[in-house]
Amino acid sequence: MVRLFTLLAALMIGSISAHGEGDIAYGEYLSTACVTCHQLTGVDNGIPSIVGWDTKAFVKTLQSYQAKERENPVMRMITEPMTTEEMEALAAYFATIKPVEPTE
Ligand code: HEC
Repeated sequence: MVRLFTLLAALMIGSISAHGEGDIAYGEYLSTACVTCHQLTGVDNGIPSIVGWDTKAFVKTLQSYQAKERENPVMRMITEPMTTEEMEALAAYFATIKPVEPTE
């Protein structure tokens, strides 16, 4: 019983802190699955930059891959199991990162 209560409390705290605003620390944790392809510097090496985005646009874009409205098979696969909370967390984290200006 005590464990069940702890679990419920954790879930409640999770959903309270979620309320539309992503958890940056959680997003940073999840971002390891993204930065092998997407450069944190904001450099587009054939894969588009995802740093410094508006958080709402970011979540909407992920949702459009999940809903199969966008074509890319990799991004469809990545977003398939994602929850809105995870998308919001990723959006919040990547929004905090400023693209680096190209130096050439
Ligand atoms: C295996 C490489 C790979 C991984 C890993 C990956 N992406 Fe992508 N991502 C891509 C490619 C390629 C595109 C461009 C797809 C297209 O043209 O629609 C893309 C597109 C996007 C876009 C839209 C960019 C735009 O300009 O429209 C977003 C947002 C995005 N990815 C977020 C993420 C997030 C968040 C993660 C981690 C959870 C992630 N990606 C992981 C390869 C990857």
